[in-house]
Amino acid sequence: MATLITNGFGCTDLSVINGFTVFQSKLLFAFANDFLSVSQVMTAMAISWSLHLIGLDPEVQEKVHLEIDSVFGDDKTRPVNSEDLKQLKYLECCIKEALRLFPSVPGIARAVNEDFRMGSYTIPKGATLFIYPFALHRNEEIFSDPEVYRPERFLTDSISKTSPYAYVPFSAGPRNCIGQRFALTEEKIVIANVFRNFSVKSVDHRDKIKAAIELVTRPKDPLRISLKLR
Ligand code: HEM
Repeated sequence: MATLITNGFGCTDLSVINGFTVFQSKLLFAFANDFLSVSQVMTAMAISWSLHLIGLDPEVQEKVHLEIDSVFGDDKTRPVNSEDLKQLKYLECCIKEALRLFPSVPGIARAVNEDFRMGSYTIPKGATLFIYPFALHRNEEIFSDPEVYRPERFLTDSISKTSPYAYVPFSAGPRNCIGQRFALTEEKIVIANVFRNFSVKSVDHRDKIKAAIELVTRPKDPLRISLKLR
């Protein structure tokens, strides 16, 4: 049994056959194109924030350089491989900490399918819940000095032990980001290659940078950095 569904744009390229949603090629292509281009913007934004934050903190940058040099030595050009990625633990902490302060996706919405209690409130079926990682990631009970960029927080697993929902740059639960490993890998490769070759200095201090909370968390003005060959 097949039912034809429109996608709201007059496109009847989506059907349900025996309970399964079937995408026809054009619509599937459009969805894939959408999510790949949006996800590239999110990854690019995350890379920019990481460079900005590392570029502001000489001590953090020194540790990044030390780690990178211990993995690549003087070789500035060979491609980064999966063994290298495993060893770049501190760099991963830097990326995670940047995603804490500036989560690329500032808000996540969920439809409530059944009544449930949250503290002293009942959230009714039919409500829409809005989760705001930008604020959640600044919870002082979980992240001491929440405004401070401190990658070392992620060296221990105490954050995930506290609550799996305290740090959610890639959302959580059954509809979390399917591209998170890919995104972290891409970020690590790009940022490692930058620091293999350059010292980075951020031109503008953090208090000069205003974040625009739109579909993606982006800086209102360009993040300016200066690069010096190492
Ligand atoms: C730093 C980069 C990225 C961040 C911060 C990020 C974050 C997120 C978040 C928060 C969600 C949940 C949205 C919601 O529930 O409303 C999501 C969903 C999703 N992401 Fe990512 N993402 C990133 C990169 C990527 C990449 C590279 C891909 C694909 C290659 C990707 C594919 C997806 C898909 C398909 C979903 C929808 C999953 C579903 O609804 O079941 N993301 N992402």
